[in-house]
Amino acid sequence: MSKAEQYKLLVKQIDALAKDVSNPISVMANVSSAIHYTMGFFGTGFYIVHGDTLQLGPFQGNIACYNIPRGKGVCGTAFEQRETIIVPDVEKFPGHIACSSLSRSEIVVPIIDDQHNVKAVLDIDSKELNTFDETDKKYLEKIVRFLSSCID
Ligand code: SME
Repeated sequence: MSKAEQYKLLVKQIDALAKDVSNPISVMANVSSAIHYTMGFFGTGFYIVHGDTLQLGPFQGNIACYNIPRGKGVCGTAFEQRETIIVPDVEKFPGHIACSSLSRSEIVVPIIDDQHNVKAVLDIDSKELNTFDETDKKYLEKIVRFLSSCID
């Protein structure tokens, strides 16, 4: 199955998973699991915006750092720039925060509400270089657009 086909199934699954669930933490917990195990990533999780800091939310994978200031690391940069960031090689991203030495590439997708505020970021790590491309960006942005309405 191609990556796009896997993502299409994942989008349907998440659609069903997040329907009629009012607790945002519960939705993020199941969505992180669905993405992680469907796509076989190394680490998949959410950081939630509290003021100028991202705080660790639901995730699947290795232990992760608790707090990331706005503008720091890949997550804090995606928060500040309000844009998805694809990192083909984490060692080449200045200021990358290494939660695991096994992580080699990364994608971070901000979750933005109707008022253009960043509410959280989705952070995914891979043990391989160059894992993430425009296909991941397209489908993960679709997933977080949908999530944005569920985690008000
Ligand atoms: N690598 C991230 C930090 C989070 S861990 O990967 C879970 C960053 O540079 O923001």
